Amino acid sequence: MRVAVVGAGYVGLTSAVCLAHLGHDVRCADIDADRVARLTKGEAPIHEAGLPELLAAGLASGRLRFVVGASDAATGADVVFLCVQTPQGADGAADLTFVEQVAREIAPVLGPEAVVVNKSTVPVGTTRLVERVLSEAGVVHDGVAVASNPEFLREGQAIHDFLNPDRIVIGCDRPEAAGVLTELYSGLRAPVLVTDPASAEMIKYAANAFLATKVSFINAIANLCEVVDADVREVALGMGYDARIGFQFLKAGPGYGGSCFPKDVAALLHTSRAAGYPFELLAGVEDVNRAQRERIVDKIRRAAGGALAEVPVAVWGLTFKADTDDLRESPALAICERLLTEGARVRAFDPAAGEQAAERVPGVEICADAYAAAEGAGVIALLTEWDEFRWLDYERIATLVDRPAIVDARNLLDPPAMRRLGFAYSAVGRR
Ligand SMILES: NC(=O)c1ccc[n+]([C@@H]2O[C@H](COP(=O)([O-])OP(=O)(O)OC[C@H]3O[C@@H](n4cnc5c(N)ncnc54)[C@H](O)[C@@H]3O)[C@@H](O)[C@H]2O)c1
Repeated sequence: MRVAVVGAGYVGLTSAVCLAHLGHDVRCADIDADRVARLTKGEAPIHEAGLPELLAAGLASGRLRFVVGASDAATGADVVFLCVQTPQGADGAADLTFVEQVAREIAPVLGPEAVVVNKSTVPVGTTRLVERVLSEAGVVHDGVAVASNPEFLREGQAIHDFLNPDRIVIGCDRPEAAGVLTELYSGLRAPVLVTDPASAEMIKYAANAFLATKVSFINAIANLCEVVDADVREVALGMGYDARIGFQFLKAGPGYGGSCFPKDVAALLHTSRAAGYPFELLAGVEDVNRAQRERIVDKIRRAAGGALAEVPVAVWGLTFKADTDDLRESPALAICERLLTEGARVRAFDPAAGEQAAERVPGVEICADAYAAAEGAGVIALLTEWDEFRWLDYERIATLVDRPAIVDARNLLDPPAMRRLGFAYSAVGRR
């Protein structure tokens, strides 16, 4: 099929390279001409396992091209995916400006039977909104259909997740359009749920809100464990063996972040308020998450001896989770900002996002590696669960720091081993 993907970000680029890999003829558009130029040369602009290989293969096959502007991509396409950002607006609602803009751009060039697909995370009613924008822009063909097809990929495993989805959700009232999308994905082995647009849109928010709830739940349990002298890792293990609960998203830490959970929780709360339903459970999830960052700052302050002014703090990890370079809504960045406000001297290392981070949080000194960040530190704060932090030479680190104190906000390290090396070690919800 001829496929247009509008937006070459985490979702759009992943979708484009994977759909080309599945044999479709894909044109992927962005408004950022530099990004398009880099992609055309085969340079992956984001850190994502398997992306460089699929990008190179797609370009070499001739089935994958990058263009500037949505209308170039959408001309002659059977299916047009909208994969643009839907950031949080001032009132918490999802800002649909980018989606509406793309709908207006593609309207004049859509083929008579094109299927326009919202892959961006968009609130209930957005399929209808796109239909309205298209019709106001003069799309009169009865054949053009609009569908919702939310994306569930995880950054860091985006290619794997796109090619091995747990399920494919298609929200569409028009059976023939749902059939086109089912056919498009026929190379994937996954259950396909065809439903109405509103339910498809709600599925995405409900799924993300549920996962965010798991994170806040285990953080609340961790906070309680600290008081009653239990170990949250043992508790999560014991819970996770229950097949009704499962192990995933039961890792205590500094709270959820990233480009999705915070904004999607806020958007669902906005939807519920607008609908007159007080979703207090979800408001609590947000509260726990906000407070969790503060608890980590408290731990760092305590580890530094009670005050942070002029204390050199080594921060390990800046991205919102491991295996991505994405810094959006990263708890680590928020914690760095708080440390700076209290007068700490923050020296940070991140395996993937160092330089970008320097722009985001001016005042943080970016170091070449974890050892350099640790030099002269009064406390080390491990804030992102990069696996390489497990395997550092901690004997060497003990000689580099000014004061051997570690706050392990991801429960990544072995407490007895750290204490044997002379570190004052604190973590989240562990004895
Ligand atoms: N990142 C994730 O893990 C993830 C997972 C599932 C769903 N989503 C959802 O998918 C959507 C996209 O997220 P993302 O992380 O890929 O965003 P992103 O910011 O990485 O990418 C969006 C891209 O769209 C481009 N763009 C904006 N307007 C455009 C236009 N008019 N024409 C062409 N390109 C345009 C931007 O330049 C940018 O490169 C959001 O709604 C998000 O919530 C994201």
